[in-house]
Amino acid sequence: MLKKLQERWHVNLVNLILIIITFALGGSLCGWAGRKILLFTNLEKGVIWILLYIILVTLLWPICVLLISIPFGQFGFFKKYISKILSKFRANRSEAPNTHKINKIAVFASGAGSNAKKIIEYFNKAENKHGQVCMLVSNNPAAGAIKIAAENNIPSLMVDRKKFQDKGYILTELKKNGIDFIVLAGFLWKIPAFLITEYPKKITNIHPALLPKYGGKGMYGHHVHETVIANKEKQSGISIHYVDEIYDHGDVIFQATCDVTGADTVETLSQKIQLLEHQHYPAVIDAVLQKQNPR
Ligand code: GRF
Repeated sequence: MLKKLQERWHVNLVNLILIIITFALGGSLCGWAGRKILLFTNLEKGVIWILLYIILVTLLWPICVLLISIPFGQFGFFKKYISKILSKFRANRSEAPNTHKINKIAVFASGAGSNAKKIIEYFNKAENKHGQVCMLVSNNPAAGAIKIAAENNIPSLMVDRKKFQDKGYILTELKKNGIDFIVLAGFLWKIPAFLITEYPKKITNIHPALLPKYGGKGMYGHHVHETVIANKEKQSGISIHYVDEIYDHGDVIFQATCDVTGADTVETLSQKIQLLEHQHYPAVIDAVLQKQNPR
């Protein structure tokens, strides 16, 4: 039972226990507050009292659990949980219910994780969007993305080279989390062929240059920007593309450009590029998901 809840909510055991405590205390608090408020009405206990009590408790419950969740460090979980309930409620009431699929996304990241953060935030906020980040995969225990995932109650999977090449292991882990789309956000290892076969046109990558130029093995991070500046390019930008068996080679989905001036350094250029990445990557993923799973 606990295991099932952990998998469903993507939380570890400690967080699950804190969540259960929050549910219990939040429920008791709203029951208590409901009864206190009804005291002011001087109503006798009867049908009307019960009806009013049910309405009050329903209205107070989200406020009470959110309040209780703060000292237990579970505010993020409950905020998401309650907004999910509200969006289901709205969808049920709407004349044309949203029937599109919510894709379960795994983000693969090795580094700082600024893109992973933007993607997680985008899909957390989006009530009617087409995906939800449900898993983080990393090869680097120091990756910033791991902390960001933990803050958002997203489970992380740490892999070494052996595990990453192990088809049975990786596919089982992804399927366990119901993953149907993979987003690479600064993931430095080559994606094994079995993953590309298993997820055809369902793995995207972002590259900090205008492919097909400045891509391929060794072309990552500052190496890209150094080469762009050394070649006196007038423009650089970002490329979002599907992943195939060759580094930075799959079909390009989207590109955005920025100017490169004589005054640009690796730092200033990488800042310009990062802005473009954050501005576009989440929305482009969303658009791809929408296109692949139309209503
Ligand atoms: C980005 O520049 C992206 O283009 C490249 O890796 C970098 C990841 O940065 N593939 P961050 O870890 O998301 O900050």
